[in-house]
Amino acid sequence: MIFRQILHPPTGCASYLFGCTGKAKLAVVDPHRAHIEDYLALAQQANSPIVAIFETHVQADHLSGAQVLAAQTRARLYLHESAQVNFPFSPLHDGDIIELGNDYIQVLHTPGHSPDSVCLVVGDKVRTETPWFVLTGDTLFVGDVGRPDLHGENHTTTFAEQLYDSVFNKLLQLEDTLEVYPSHFAGSACGRAMSGKPSSTIGFERRFNPALQYHDREAFVTFVQQNQTPAPAEFTTIRQANLNAQIGEPA
Ligand SMILES: [Fe+2]
Repeated sequence: MIFRQILHPPTGCASYLFGCTGKAKLAVVDPHRAHIEDYLALAQQANSPIVAIFETHVQADHLSGAQVLAAQTRARLYLHESAQVNFPFSPLHDGDIIELGNDYIQVLHTPGHSPDSVCLVVGDKVRTETPWFVLTGDTLFVGDVGRPDLHGENHTTTFAEQLYDSVFNKLLQLEDTLEVYPSHFAGSACGRAMSGKPSSTIGFERRFNPALQYHDREAFVTFVQQNQTPAPAEFTTIRQANLNAQIGEPA
């Protein structure tokens, strides 16, 4: 397996390219429009094509590169089945397993930050059936969890409750040794207190992530709604752009 983390410090975004070079199949997760050339260059270096592109959810803070990259590579574009987008995609369901050569990607539906949020558990069966890492999107960050307040004030508590279930009943059921790679780090407006270090483990976050100390459902729901800065004004327009078909538009 190869694994590359691509960082975009101005907005605290992290995207990922990984896959099986033995069977020449790569995946990209949460591609950023500004980094299309980087993904293509990494794939060329690995002598393997990008065959799968995943969005962990419809992003609101940066222009997605998923559609453009899919058009350029002919890779399959995956989003959760509930994503309300205006372009064709392959729907992901909770529990799906997608093979990528010797690697595999297991889908966890983890609503809370958004209804269509997923986390992706990834492994390489050449060494072990045990997964190697989890891409946590905007559900779990290093030092925080995703904000549940981006879909209207009336829904924030419901989303916070969903986030509790996603975090405690799905992500924290995973092994402590599993590496965590989120879609944002410090500098992002998608959370409150993210670390500048863009990786962790389930065990470290279980012990030291402030939000994960609130085992009580009600206390967690209250905590994740406290001290949220207002969402940046451009979130609405960026999200709308990411919901729409982008191919054929000027970049
Ligand atoms: Fe997000």
